[in-house]
Amino acid sequence: MDAPAPFDPPERLLCGPGPTNVDPAALEAMRRPMLGHLDPALHEMLLELCALLRSAYRAEDAEVVLPLQATGTSGMETGIASLVEPGETVIVGVNGYFGRRIAEIARRHDADVVEVTADWGEHVPNACLLNALHEHRDARLLAVVHAETSTGVEHPLAELGAEMRDADTLLMADCVTSLGGVELEFDAWGIDYAYSCTQKCLGAPPGMSPIAFSAQAAERARSRSTPLGFNFDLDLLTAYWTERPATYHVTVPILHIYALHEVLRGLAEEGLENRWARQAEAGARLQERVGEMGLELLAEPEHQLAPLTAVRVPEGVDGKAVQAELLARGIEVGGGLGPQAPAMWRLGLMGPNANVETADRLADAFAEVLAAVGPRAAERPLAAATD
Ligand SMILES: Cc1ncc(COP(=O)(O)O)c(C=O)c1O
Repeated sequence: MDAPAPFDPPERLLCGPGPTNVDPAALEAMRRPMLGHLDPALHEMLLELCALLRSAYRAEDAEVVLPLQATGTSGMETGIASLVEPGETVIVGVNGYFGRRIAEIARRHDADVVEVTADWGEHVPNACLLNALHEHRDARLLAVVHAETSTGVEHPLAELGAEMRDADTLLMADCVTSLGGVELEFDAWGIDYAYSCTQKCLGAPPGMSPIAFSAQAAERARSRSTPLGFNFDLDLLTAYWTERPATYHVTVPILHIYALHEVLRGLAEEGLENRWARQAEAGARLQERVGEMGLELLAEPEHQLAPLTAVRVPEGVDGKAVQAELLARGIEVGGGLGPQAPAMWRLGLMGPNANVETADRLADAFAEVLAAVGPRAAERPLAAATD
């Protein structure tokens, strides 16, 4: 094959469920001189990066905090694989696509899975999770999705953590869309294992998964009777990321690490609480504008996430045509995820896009496209739950 022209991607405003646009400072950081993965200058920076991640998770007491060199799903699988052995019980809150994925991964690791379900758009009540825990006192792990990106629902995690404080069962939280986006307190809420990604509220490219283990969870991971897979073994990871001198484990993605360091530095400069407030303000503005268009949000209002707004597609409107027309105008938004999803659009304002100006730009374009593609939303009944 002859050499093709260089890839020249179009400019997009990424306002879907993630990835979001990369923070320009992170892109700039990725152009800095490449170092080898065993360079002491890099190793110094890795320690700083892990300290910044601790602050972002509010996990000063955690035993281990570091980023895995793979996407959010690897963080999910590492939690299950590290903390659960075949035949042990795992309770999973399932109210959307990612809760279902946790349950699926737990089954693949031969866990005995108890699903506690709620409809898409609803949260899984803590009382139901605690009932399941009462019935399965020997459960090794209870897992919930803090920010369910497939529906825009936020789980009341602080309350769950408080209720589980005396339980032997470990609490695992999917923080893929919540880290750096909404209030998250690893230590204070009693979370044992959390995982996230880099491509959403942190505003870096996809490819890494920040994780945190409490002392109890790390102890559990280290005392497994069967060895864990090599890639995500806690001791091999810490030997490279946090013990000094560092021991080679894998050749880590150096430029992605620069990007992650840069966005975490930016987060520290802005202040975590200021960031949460900025995300909240942007989300509220978008949700208000969508409401003014006569459209209905999928999530229960008291559990609505700020970074992700799921909007029901009204009857008679072709949701995919609206997405395609927005993309033609340079704006990406998401649709429903998976065959069980009700007809919806998923609008994200994350990281560098979490501001009122971008909320207005998205809402203006959305209103124009709806008027061009479909009938007026306010005049239509809501669509049935089909994708
Ligand atoms: C809540 C949630 N969990 C897990 C994942 C999986 O992350 P990744 O696609 O980076 O593997 C996603 C991805 O969007 C997500 O939104």
